[in-house]
Amino acid sequence: MNRSVSILIASVLTISVTAAGDIGKEELASTSRLKNTMRKFATGLDQIQKGIIYNNRDRIEMGVRVMRQAKKNFLKRHGEILKKQMPDNPQLAYSLAKKSAEQIKKYVKMMNSQIHNTDDFSKIATAYSGVFDQCVKCHQKLRKNYLKAQP
Ligand code: HEC
Repeated sequence: MNRSVSILIASVLTISVTAAGDIGKEELASTSRLKNTMRKFATGLDQIQKGIIYNNRDRIEMGVRVMRQAKKNFLKRHGEILKKQMPDNPQLAYSLAKKSAEQIKKYVKMMNSQIHNTDDFSKIATAYSGVFDQCVKCHQKLRKNYLKAQP
């Protein structure tokens, strides 16, 4: 083979390997951002649950604050990586994620508006269940390797 042709082939190969590596890195970064948000969700929900159980408004408030922050721009930040959870139907994945995000937003708002209104935390408990329902729903449908991920 002519030397310049083999150099050309070698550099084309190098470029495509590098590009694949970058895509892999990008995807890893998106996954880690998603997991980070998920862990915030889990922490927030946990605090809210404990707050309700121990009758501690500050704890609920802290949890709601974490949830509000975690849900911010959820779709914009995680839409693309969530699409990849359903390679056969990324549009469906996206619309499921959109619906979850809207529901979570609605229930978090509900908690936020209730928190200073009453000593009766039953409405907050209802909203908590509403959020939790969304977590479970999306995990059933979208979370990759759902069963394998069980500890
Ligand atoms: C729109 C879809 C969707 C919604 C809604 C959702 N999750 Fe997730 N969640 C995922 C996916 C996908 C993963 C798997 C990420 C991975 O391992 O790549 C995940 C993973 C997790 C993890 C594991 C993170 C880790 O470090 O491995 C936790 C904890 C979690 N979710 C909590 C929650 C909680 C709590 C809620 C509800 C407030 C929630 N999720 C709502 C899609 C969702």
